Amino acid sequence: MLDSLEVDVITIFPGMLRGFLEESMMGRAAANGLVRFRFIDPRDFTKDVHRSTDDRPYGGGPGMLMKPEPLFGAIESVKRPESRVIMLTPQGERFDQRRAEGLSRERHLIFLCGHYEGVDERVRESLVTDEISIGDYVLTNGAVASAVVIDAVVRLLPGALGGDGATEEESFGRSGLLEYPQYTRPAEFRGMQVPQVLLSGHHAEVARWRQEQAVKRTRLRRPDLMADSREDTRDE
Ligand code: ADE
Repeated sequence: MLDSLEVDVITIFPGMLRGFLEESMMGRAAANGLVRFRFIDPRDFTKDVHRSTDDRPYGGGPGMLMKPEPLFGAIESVKRPESRVIMLTPQGERFDQRRAEGLSRERHLIFLCGHYEGVDERVRESLVTDEISIGDYVLTNGAVASAVVIDAVVRLLPGALGGDGATEEESFGRSGLLEYPQYTRPAEFRGMQVPQVLLSGHHAEVARWRQEQAVKRTRLRRPDLMADSREDTRDE
């Protein structure tokens, strides 16, 4: 357990994430000791009888904001000097595979999931180290966004995918290109054939075909990726 990634999720709706973190690859990674998940409920750090975590914004305006005291209490209960405190917000830096790779090398990630209209600015200023957006759209809360980031990070932990290099050739992997088309048996299905080269057993030709297909597909679908593709770092 010494080397495992520790993930603390601060949310008032842990139920939104519990099933997600227990099932499939996330559950397996935790069972295998690669990662440890824990929930921190800001309500446990409230002092009023209603255990309220939100309040109206100063200056007026619609919606409610998350109050500073419960969030400071929750974060400070787990934060260490090396922790990354990640707030999920549409105002954050856009999440991508490179950010996922960077976070997969950390020891302790704290995800702060905002709910309602947002979070008191003093939390952001004092305790948050990273602000991440998962895309240019607005969700009702940060828990769903944190699930996306956690999934992308945990699957990169050494051993999570069985260590067969599965993350190197996929889309946005080492090459920076989208992935080539893939086929499995049967070789013919409803009249549609698997490309002959894949049946040839000729490894060099298969590799060349895949590289060509990846470039073609990326150029067509995501020309913006071509500029910063890491094609030149491939060693084949
Ligand atoms: N919370 C609400 N919308 C979000 C988004 N797009 N990314 C991250 N967190 C969010």
